[in-house]
Amino acid sequence: MTTNLEQMKCLFEPQSIALIGASGNPGKIGYNLLSNMVGSGYKGKIYPINPKGGEILGQKVYTSLQEIDGPVDHAVLVIPAKYVFGGVKECAAKGVKVVSIITSGFSEVGNVEEERKIVEYARAHDMRILGPNIFGVHSATAPINATFGPGEIVPGGVAILTQSGALGAAMIGKTKAENIGLSTIVSIGNKADIDEADLLEYLVQSDQTKVIFMYIEGVKNGDRLVKVLKEVTKIKPVIVVKSGRSARGAMAAASHTGSLAGADDVFDAIMKQCGAIRAETVQESLNWCKFLSTNSIPSGEDCVIVTNGGGIGVLAADACEKFNVPLYDDQENLKEVFTPHIPSYGSTKNPVDITGGANSADYERSLHAAFKCEDVHSVICLGCETAMIDVENLPGMIEKIYDQYKDAKPMVFSFFGGEDVENGIIELRQKGVPIFNETYDCVSSLGAMYQNYRNIHAEPDDYKYVDEIKVDEAKINEVVDRVLADDRTFLLAHEASELMAAAGVIMPQSKVASNLEEALNLAQTIGFPVVMKVVSKDIIHKSDAGGVALDLENRDEVIDAWEAIMHSCKKYNANAKITGIEVCEMVKSGIETIIGARQDGSFGPTIMFGLGGIYVEVMKDVSFAALPVTRKEAMTLVESIKSYPLLLGVRGEAKKDIDAVIDTLIRVGKVLTACDKITDIEVNPLVAYEQGQGAKAVDARILLKKN
Ligand code: COA
Repeated sequence: MTTNLEQMKCLFEPQSIALIGASGNPGKIGYNLLSNMVGSGYKGKIYPINPKGGEILGQKVYTSLQEIDGPVDHAVLVIPAKYVFGGVKECAAKGVKVVSIITSGFSEVGNVEEERKIVEYARAHDMRILGPNIFGVHSATAPINATFGPGEIVPGGVAILTQSGALGAAMIGKTKAENIGLSTIVSIGNKADIDEADLLEYLVQSDQTKVIFMYIEGVKNGDRLVKVLKEVTKIKPVIVVKSGRSARGAMAAASHTGSLAGADDVFDAIMKQCGAIRAETVQESLNWCKFLSTNSIPSGEDCVIVTNGGGIGVLAADACEKFNVPLYDDQENLKEVFTPHIPSYGSTKNPVDITGGANSADYERSLHAAFKCEDVHSVICLGCETAMIDVENLPGMIEKIYDQYKDAKPMVFSFFGGEDVENGIIELRQKGVPIFNETYDCVSSLGAMYQNYRNIHAEPDDYKYVDEIKVDEAKINEVVDRVLADDRTFLLAHEASELMAAAGVIMPQSKVASNLEEALNLAQTIGFPVVMKVVSKDIIHKSDAGGVALDLENRDEVIDAWEAIMHSCKKYNANAKITGIEVCEMVKSGIETIIGARQDGSFGPTIMFGLGGIYVEVMKDVSFAALPVTRKEAMTLVESIKSYPLLLGVRGEAKKDIDAVIDTLIRVGKVLTACDKITDIEVNPLVAYEQGQGAKAVDARILLKKN
C-alpha cells in the first residue's frame, strides 16, 4: 500500500501527468487544462489523451492510457460523468496513483452511488481520487498547473485548499492582482476521497508552503481533520473561512458540493481548539495569508502603536483587544524611548501619539526608536492625512523602514486620506509592504500573526492527566448491550446511573423499589429528604406524566408520593409497564451546570459545557470541543462560557469546585469514546458545590445508536 504522503506527492509533484479528455477545441475545459499544463514550465511528461489521437498545442495525443509506455503518476479526468467510472478503471489498470476528476454531476446533484462506486474501486486499487467537481490542482513545486483557472499564477508561500471551484479559480486571479504568491491551489470539490487532512499532511512538510488557507463548506471525517490540524498549526499557520454559517447558507452549501455545513458554533470552537485561525471573509484571509507568508514572526508579545491621530489610535487599540494583539505597557520605558522624538504635547503612552503636526521625518524617527527598542516586538504604524504631512515622501519612508526592519520584527501600516494616500498604499502593497486602508485590517493581520506565534510556542498536548482517569469500559459496554438487547435506544434512569457509576461520575444515591415497602426502606437507608421517580420504558418524560416527587421529608410523604406517582402515570399512559419507582437522595443546591457529549455528524465525538437552566436554554451560553480533550482543553471549555464568573464566585459567593466539573467532563467524554454505540449523553444538571466539595450529576440521559 502506498502511504498518503507518497500519494499526495504524486498529486503535487508528479513525474508524469495524463489528461484524459484533452481537446483541440479552445472552447472546452479539456483544451484550457492542457494549455495551462503545457504553459506551466513542467519538467515531467504530459500525456494528453483523446480517442482521436493526433496533436494538440504541439503535444502528441495518445488514444488511450494503455498506449503510453512509461508510468503515469497523476491523471486528470475531464470527460462527461457517464464515462468517468470507465476512465477510473483504465487508470487503475495503468497503475496511476492519483486521479483528479474535474467532472461535475456526482453527489452534488444526488448522484451519490456513482461517486461511491468510483471511490471504492480506486481505493481497492491503491489509487486516490481528488474531487469530483473540481477545477484542478496547481503546484509551484513541480511546477504544474493542472487547472482550468487563469494561467498565470505567482509562485510563493501560500497554499489554498478550496471546496468551491469557482471561488478558487477566481482566487488565482485575485492573488495575482494582490501580488500574493502561491505554493499551491487545490480544488477539493465533493471530497469523495482526498480531503483537507490528506492534503495538510503533504503541505506541512512542503518547504515551499509557509501558510495554508482553507475555504470549507462542510466537514467530513472531522475527527481526523482535528488530529492533523492540531499538529500542523504547531508548525505553520492555517487560516480558515467556512461558509454555510446561516441556515440559508448551509442549505446552499448542501446543494453546492453536497456538504453538510454542521453547526457553526461547534465548527468555530473546534477550529480554535485546533489552533486554526478563522477569518470572516475571503479578503480578510488573503490579507492574513500575504502578511504571514512574507513577514517574520515576533520574538515576544509587546506591540507598540505609533500614530499621528488619537482617534485612529483608539480604534487600533480596540482592534488590538478584539484580535488579541498585546500592547506594550511599560510607561517608564515608553517615555524614555519616545520623548526625544515627539512634541511635549504628544503622548508616549501606547498608542504613541506623535501628534497631527508630524511629517514623514517625525514618523521615521519614532519608528526607528520603536524598532531599536529591545522590549518592543512588533509595531503598528497609523496615519491620517493632515496638511502637515508630506504625503509624497511617505511611501519612500515606509518602504525604507520596512526593508530595514522586516526581518527583525513584524510591522503593519495603515494610512487614511485622499487620492495621493490611496495611490501610495497601492504602490506599497504591490511591493509587498503590509499597508492597509483600514486600521482594522492592519491590526487583524498582526492578530493572526500573534495567534500563530502562540500556537508555535504552546506546550505540547499533554494527555497524562486524562489518561490517568479510568472508566470501566467493559461495564459501560455491558450496560449498553443489555439495553440494546431489550430493543431500546435510551437508558432508563437506573441504567444511566449504573453506567455513570462505571465511569466514576458521582450521582446521587439511588435505587429502584418495586413496592412501597422497599421504597420506605430505601428512603430510610439513603436518608431524608428523598426524591422519587417513576421507572418505565414507556414513560420517557417523567415530569410530564406526574412521575416525579421532590423533597420528601418523611415516611408519610413517601407513602403519599408512591400512590400519587402510580395514579398519575397510569392516567398518563394506561398501558405503561411500570418497573418500579426510583428512590434517590435529594441533592443540595449549588450552581447547575450541564455537560453534553455527542457523536457530531461532522466531527465525531464532541463535548459541550454550559451553565444549566436559562443560561443554556435562553442565552445559549455553551462551549464545545472535539474529543478527546486534554485537561487544558477541558479547562478552556469551562472558561470560555460567558457565565464562567459565576463558577469563580460573584458577590462574595465562594468559588465552585471547578476541578470536580473538569473531572466529570473528562469522564463523560471518555464514556462516549469508550462505546461507539452511544450517540448522546446529557448530564443535566451537574450541580457544582464549593471548592473541595465536588459536583454531583443529578440526571443523565443517554441515547444509543440502533443495533
Ligand atoms: N477518453 C478520452 N477522451 C474522451 C473520452 C475518454 N474516455 N471520452 C470523451 N473524450 C473526449 C471527447 O471526445 C472530447 O474531445 P473532443 O473535444 O476532441 O471531442 C473531450 O474528451 C471532452 O468530452 P466532451 O464530451 O466534449 O465533454 P465536454 O468537454 O463538453 O464536458 C466536462 C466534459 C467534464 C467538462 C463536463 O462534463 C463537466 O463536468 N463540466 C463541468 C466541470 C466543472 O465545472 N467542474 C467543477 C469546476 S469547479
